[in-house]
Amino acid sequence: MKSYSNKKRNPYGLRLFFHLSWLLLLSILFSAPVFAQETHHDTKWLKPYKITDPDKIAELLPYFPSRASTNGKTLTPDMFEQPEVCQSCHSEIYQQWKRSVMAKSWDDPIYQALFKRASIATKGEIDNFCIACHSPIGMTSMDATAKMIDTKEHLPGVNCEVCHNITGISGHDNGAYVLSPNKEKHVKLGPRSDAVSPYHKTEYSDLHTRSEFCSTCHNVSHPVNSTPIERTYDEWLESAYNEQGIHCQDCHMTPGPGVNDNPGRSAVMGKEREHIYSHEFTGGNSTLHNYFNEPESAELARAMLRSAATIEFIDLPHEVTPGELITIKVKVTNVGAGHKLPTGFPEGREVWVDFMANSAQDATTVYRSGAVVDGHTEPNTRNFKVTLGDSDGNVVDLNVWEVDRILADTRIPPKGYSVVDYTFLVPVDVTGTLSLSATLNYWPFSQMLVDELLGEGKLTVDIVEMTTTSAEVNITEQTATTAEGTVTASVPKH
Ligand code: HEC
Ligand code: HEC
Ligand code: HEC
Ligand code: HEC
Ligand code: HEC
Repeated sequence: MKSYSNKKRNPYGLRLFFHLSWLLLLSILFSAPVFAQETHHDTKWLKPYKITDPDKIAELLPYFPSRASTNGKTLTPDMFEQPEVCQSCHSEIYQQWKRSVMAKSWDDPIYQALFKRASIATKGEIDNFCIACHSPIGMTSMDATAKMIDTKEHLPGVNCEVCHNITGISGHDNGAYVLSPNKEKHVKLGPRSDAVSPYHKTEYSDLHTRSEFCSTCHNVSHPVNSTPIERTYDEWLESAYNEQGIHCQDCHMTPGPGVNDNPGRSAVMGKEREHIYSHEFTGGNSTLHNYFNEPESAELARAMLRSAATIEFIDLPHEVTPGELITIKVKVTNVGAGHKLPTGFPEGREVWVDFMANSAQDATTVYRSGAVVDGHTEPNTRNFKVTLGDSDGNVVDLNVWEVDRILADTRIPPKGYSVVDYTFLVPVDVTGTLSLSATLNYWPFSQMLVDELLGEGKLTVDIVEMTTTSAEVNITEQTATTAEGTVTASVPKH
């Protein structure tokens, strides 16, 4: 049995204080709707904040169309320290973070290519939206725009100073974090009430121990028409993991899937702890780790993916007859992901079944569905994916700013399963046994999408085999059945 660390550190006095200050902040920021932090299941106010008075936009949403805010402060780059400063004491955490995808959220070539397109198409109006999550420090203190991609300016991604200076949230999506560094007092917010550092002050933050902390960036809606584009937090919110108190941190801030105990110190002069929250933030994007030449992180991502699902044949026939039309069922269960499988970036993330029926005798393929052809999964592949649509109902592959609706969503809910089936004719001339195999594959984006964004030959997408199963089914030797209407086959005897 997998057990999750749920060692939450909640001194109630501090917690109450935190909640009160948070509520106060919220009521100042948005007179309505103010929500109670304890009612986690009340999702009504999850809708993106709607402002009807255009004059209020600048005041309430200084980084419109994102929901980011700074507690009224004007931020400058010197208010944030470089991660290398933290490295001297938090060396292990630094190394882990440095390898993570979040450290590259600005440098990521796929992001940059798509962001450039989005910015050109919207005449820069979308810039703050994307940058809010992909470079919070760039947006709030460096006037970042998409043009900085062309000038090859390096902007900080989601780094130590972003996360440990978030003092509250004003909602659960579209960058609704409050980034409020306190240079004078030099405070870092974190999960422990007894952390003492010789370099900086520490402040206990209940928020950091919860999925709500991640929600501000891992929940994206279209800023104008509210289409729920990427809703990892909402998927988790509705899941059994939420009921059990298992947060994003419990799966993504451990050294690897299923590893729950990570005793040690988080800093050289730190206290010895039962469990240190690690900062690998492993997801599924082994392709991006390959691009940045990090084979070990790529392998961790593959392990994460392998821990997510099981695959099995169900209701298999005992034997089949040549010439018979048969149906084979495959069941895929999301056993390990605390959200839909897959979740996240909907233009790309795809999980699919590569199903094959071969003649065991001569290894010829009798039937196949799920091959990769011309850089994408072949038509009719049984896949688990979101299909986005525009206002005319046409499929949107890439131009996410045009999204107006979800056309289809076949992803598998947390702890849920999906059954797919294949119906095909057993050829009249096969004998012996039919070998069936079903392999569950993942890629973060299709080769076609990458070639379109980066140009051909720039990046090879890593197709990850998550899990696989196989079975043998006997083929009867009879030549025909007597029942009326059944196909008559002539099978050579041997
Ligand atoms: C001189 C050493 C030193 C430096 C430099 C340093 N820290 Fe720390 N930090 C510590 C120690 C020691 C602790 C306490 C660890 C414990 O008690 O387990 C700590 C704790 C923390 C915590 C946990 C706070 C809590 O309440 O749980 C955070 C977050 C943190 N540091 C962030 C940072 C960041 C970000 C930087 C870089 C800007 C940084 N630290 C630089 C020594 C340092
Ligand atoms: C994406 C946000 C994010 C980034 C980036 C990030 N942290 Fe953290 N960090 C967290 C959260 C959340 C926790 C608390 C996890 C929990 O307790 O559930 C945490 C915990 C910590 C702790 C306390 C660990 C423990 O178990 O006692 C330290 C120290 C720390 N972070 C330092 C850093 C440093 C240094 C960096 C940069 C090298 C960094 N963090 C980058 C979100 C982040
Ligand atoms: C300030 C915004 C922000 C916050 C807060 C944040 N993330 Fe992220 N996260 C991102 C962005 C942006 C990416 C994608 C980077 C890319 O691929 O270019 C990302 C990527 C990831 C990935 C890698 C996904 C993959 O495909 O491999 C994981 C896992 C992840 N985040 C987990 C978390 C968790 C857990 C938390 C909360 C403790 C959190 N994040 C908080 C912005 C954020
Ligand atoms: C029970 C463990 C568990 C919990 C809880 C969990 N995740 Fe995951 N997460 C996984 C696994 C396993 C994968 C790899 C399979 C996949 O891609 O869905 C994953 C993948 C991801 C990815 C990569 C997206 C993709 O599908 O390629 C992101 C981003 C992510 N998680 C963010 C989050 C956030 C944010 C939360 C909290 C709201 C969270 N996760 C909660 C286990 C978990
Ligand atoms: C509310 C926060 C948020 C906003 C706004 C946002 N993103 Fe992201 N983006 C994320 C997160 C979180 C991920 C990682 C999800 C995952 O791993 O599947 C991500 C992933 C991506 C990826 C996939 C990167 C990869 O290597 O697989 C691309 C491309 C991307 N975003 C582009 C954009 C563009 C362009 C915009 C603006 C139109 C934008 N994002 C707006 C949070 C955001």
